[in-house]
Amino acid sequence: IDGVLAPKDYEGKKVVITAGPTIEPIDPVRSITNRSSGKMGYELARELAARGAEVYLISGPTKLKPPFLVKKFFSVESVDEMFKLTLKFFKEADIAIMAAAVSDYKVKNYSNKKIKKSSENLIIELEKNPDILKELGKIKNNTQITVGFAAETNDVIEYANKKLINKNADIIVSNDVSRKDIGFDSNQNEVVLISKDGEKHVEKSSKRDISVAICNYISSKFSK
Ligand code: CTP
Ligand code: CA
Repeated sequence: IDGVLAPKDYEGKKVVITAGPTIEPIDPVRSITNRSSGKMGYELARELAARGAEVYLISGPTKLKPPFLVKKFFSVESVDEMFKLTLKFFKEADIAIMAAAVSDYKVKNYSNKKIKKSSENLIIELEKNPDILKELGKIKNNTQITVGFAAETNDVIEYANKKLINKNADIIVSNDVSRKDIGFDSNQNEVVLISKDGEKHVEKSSKRDISVAICNYISSKFSK
């Protein structure tokens, strides 16, 4: 049973988690989105809550039910909405885990009316979204821990290390999305956890076991 046998190493910790995809509207019937089932973020939310954390789960649309022990659940669509809520709860939080697949860009001029088909080519202008993890990296105090993900198709470790530094994150969970057997819709994943102390490989296993490994890794960084 969830939470009964788990260690309680997260008691008293507040954790903000983003999960799932984001949706940027183009017009009332169309949008830009990113592929994400939300499974990894929801597994982390479940594991952390079972270990005693107060979890704030901020999620884009998924097919999943919020984990039973997670009492603060927020459903969002756009990155701006996700950003606003994440900032609000991060102020009080000890840990932020950004597991959402965030759209890097949003539509510059949203059309209130459905865009009609006309010319052969259509250009939609996009503008950059806020980088939530990076913004948290700028405002965090020296006890707050930020954790990000890096889903890459190539040069995985190199890009993940760059993200660790560029976003001033404490941990980057990296995985290779070019592999067909893991990630995205799969229940399995294989990741490398990266921090300033080095790299730790987590062998291919269920997203539930990966979430346990990530939580163990984060708690090993407490008060360090
Ligand atoms: N992230 C975020 N806000 C964004 C973009 C990304 O919080 N606007 C977070 C993701 O949730 C993830 C981490 O940053 O935890 C890395 O996301 P990724 O898309 O891999 O990084 P980018 O900096 O957007 O780089 P790129 O897409 O060019 O690889
Ligand atoms: Ca991105």
